[in-house]
Amino acid sequence: MIHPRPLLGEPRGTDRPYLAINMVATLDGRAALDGSAVGIGSTADKRLMRELRAEADVVLHGAGTVRADPLSARVPPDLVEQRLARGLSRQPLGAIVTRSGDLPVRHPYYESSSVIYVTSSATVAVELPTVEVCRVSTVVDVLQNLARRGARRVLCEGGPTLNSALFANGLVDEVFLTIAPKLVGGEDPLTIIKGPRLPSTIHLELRSLVELEGELFLRYAVTPSPSGRGRG
Ligand SMILES: NC(=O)c1ccc[n+]([C@@H]2O[C@H](COP(=O)([O-])OP(=O)(O)OC[C@H]3O[C@@H](n4cnc5c(N)ncnc54)[C@H](OP(=O)(O)O)[C@@H]3O)[C@@H](O)[C@H]2O)c1
Repeated sequence: MIHPRPLLGEPRGTDRPYLAINMVATLDGRAALDGSAVGIGSTADKRLMRELRAEADVVLHGAGTVRADPLSARVPPDLVEQRLARGLSRQPLGAIVTRSGDLPVRHPYYESSSVIYVTSSATVAVELPTVEVCRVSTVVDVLQNLARRGARRVLCEGGPTLNSALFANGLVDEVFLTIAPKLVGGEDPLTIIKGPRLPSTIHLELRSLVELEGELFLRYAVTPSPSGRGRG
């Protein structure tokens, strides 16, 4: 088993849910190979990703990840049973954050209930009964809106630009990072955070470290600081 259970924590207050980020990178820090995260992690990493989803009320993605990868927020049938046993819905709610509204009209993501959070007045061409479009101003509003919907645990699966906004706003409680035993090189590496320098350094505390066939599975908690959570 990778990491002790439960995988996800508890919300620390009522204003926003607990939020964990789950990412995979190569040993040289790359978060994408040829524009996609597919192919970085092993089968064990994919299993961990699904098990994290199985504990989440909501799985959150940035629009760039949805455009890049044919992913969804769903769990496979064996984990649906686990979710129901925990009193959760059959599938996590999928949530996408976009400013441009530029999302594919058809995508596997929309096969189960999803919300598209738009931080502008841009048009969203997705019109499906499973998909709600919700206007917000910032990622802080996204988390507050999810709390109002009853979400207690949110799993963000990136990408790097969304991660940056979440860290910059002090919204992240824990980080799950898989380091795949691979080197790929290349110019301008995309790492797990993309954006302006964070307002202050975020300090992390190691909670769990598991090695499986050379792949490292890390779980870190963001440590609170005197000037506010997530601020160094
Ligand atoms: N290694 C991993 O674990 C992992 C995980 C996920 C993704 N990836 C890879 O990361 C790459 C995509 O990177 P990315 O940084 O573009 O991904 P991203 O963060 O998923 O997408 C960026 C886009 O999301 C929206 N967004 C992000 N933050 C926002 C905010 N604060 N407010 C409003 N909208 C916001 C914007 O969408 P609009 O452009 O629509 O306005 C923005 O351009 C892909 O290659 C993907 O495969 C890797």
